[in-house]
Amino acid sequence: MAMGRWKSRAAVVAAVSMVSFVAPANTAEPDGVHPGPMSRVQAYARAEALTALGKKMFFDPALSASGKQACSSCHDPHHAFGPASASPVEMGGPNLDQPGVRAVPSLRYLQAAPAFTEHFYDSDDEGDESVDNGPTGGLTWDGRADHGKDQAKIPLLSPFEMANKDGAAVTSALRKSAYAGEFKASFGDDVFDHPGDAFDAAAEALGTFEQSAADFYPYSSRYDAFLAGKAQLSAQEMRGRALFEDESKGNCASCHLSEPTNDGEPPQFTDFGLIAIAVPRNASIPANADPAYIDLGLCGPLRTDFRGRTEYCGLFKTPTLRNVALRKSFFHNGTFHTLRDAVAFYASRDTDPGHWYSRNADGTVRKYDDLPKAYWPNLNQDPPFNGKKPGDKPALNDAEIDDIVTFLGTLTDADQQSGAAPVN
Ligand code: HEC
Ligand code: HEC
Repeated sequence: MAMGRWKSRAAVVAAVSMVSFVAPANTAEPDGVHPGPMSRVQAYARAEALTALGKKMFFDPALSASGKQACSSCHDPHHAFGPASASPVEMGGPNLDQPGVRAVPSLRYLQAAPAFTEHFYDSDDEGDESVDNGPTGGLTWDGRADHGKDQAKIPLLSPFEMANKDGAAVTSALRKSAYAGEFKASFGDDVFDHPGDAFDAAAEALGTFEQSAADFYPYSSRYDAFLAGKAQLSAQEMRGRALFEDESKGNCASCHLSEPTNDGEPPQFTDFGLIAIAVPRNASIPANADPAYIDLGLCGPLRTDFRGRTEYCGLFKTPTLRNVALRKSFFHNGTFHTLRDAVAFYASRDTDPGHWYSRNADGTVRKYDDLPKAYWPNLNQDPPFNGKKPGDKPALNDAEIDDIVTFLGTLTDADQQSGAAPVN
């Protein structure tokens, strides 16, 4: 499916449209500090101010209960705002000893993510608008937050992330920060007297920063240069791209969109769909020591509004593959540690399940060992999976897997390749 509807315009336009419709933080006391309806120029200025403020907050460890963890501790700008470490999950909490339950995603290229919807109808002209593409969009691996400003409250309050007791704790840290004056300038002199408003404002600033093009969607990869006719790919990279797109081979591009959209927007390498592919259970996640704990994505337990919706169990959001070569853990549970394994899994999940899944005491393979059998009907069966059975020929051979891995290396942004940090 191709994107169209929510494909965004320029960064600032997105940020501007966001702030223009946001009510002033303390509407109860219109005092002239807060803008009413803003002119375009005012809206731009405000977006710029919030971006600068959000950036400072993003790197500020004082906004955590430990005093040692910033957003950037997990979302490292040198790693496309993904984790620097190879650990599948990160530690958080007041003493930084509480393990998380999911891999840290990159925060790049989320600007085009649509709000979560259960029924996504493609409006791009090449798509059939009557086709329901199912659950799509939102932020986090299960799409449970619609926008950056909703999402930002999750890590600030999560007991295994920044672990603030409540929004008031965040507000009190902000009040003491070096940028408290800027915060007041943007949200009103008395903003700190209204902790709820200040917490909303903090989340808004973080969400606005995440819309900044230079930091979050530079489109500076070699593949972007190639699409613009300004660079060449090697023969192997070209083969990998063809396999990635070939519907009877990798078919990767059916979910990880790889071509510019009809109106020339660069590809996001995701369609933001939520899909079940049954990656192996990761025994090294502490929560998984309890056999009763199963991360089922869209149907819970982290997400709570679709509990009991069995047709949603096992579905996770398709991540962008831009900058994927920088990652050291792959998929929602970080179960693989090489990009090659992540790609090879698609080829032989069903033809050689014994290679991927754990075993029962009697030595038999526990196929799909992180997805209870009742939910197997939810599994995606498109190529490269395609109903294959043990012993069948995989959709991709070893050389073809290598080609795709090489192609994925072209998706790394230029600032990441040189090792120069884009921010901070
Ligand atoms: C302890 C590590 C950690 C810290 C600190 C942290 N995050 Fe995250 N972040 C994660 C993990 C893990 C996820 C995936 C969560 C999930 O799927 O439930 C995530 C997801 C996200 C997402 C959604 C990404 C996507 O692909 O949909 C955004 C946006 C985000 N974080 C922003 C922030 C901001 C802003 C902060 C600081 C206020 C922050 N994070 C602090 C670990 C962290
Ligand atoms: C039917 C949709 C679909 C197809 C086809 C598909 N993917 Fe994915 N991809 C996903 C989803 C969904 C996830 C996340 C699943 C999870 O974590 O449980 C994912 C995750 C990944 C990841 C891990 C990224 C990260 O940040 O951890 C890689 C790498 C990847 N896919 C590569 C590929 C390649 C290569 C192909 C083709 C051989 C492919 N995908 C085909 C939907 C798809």
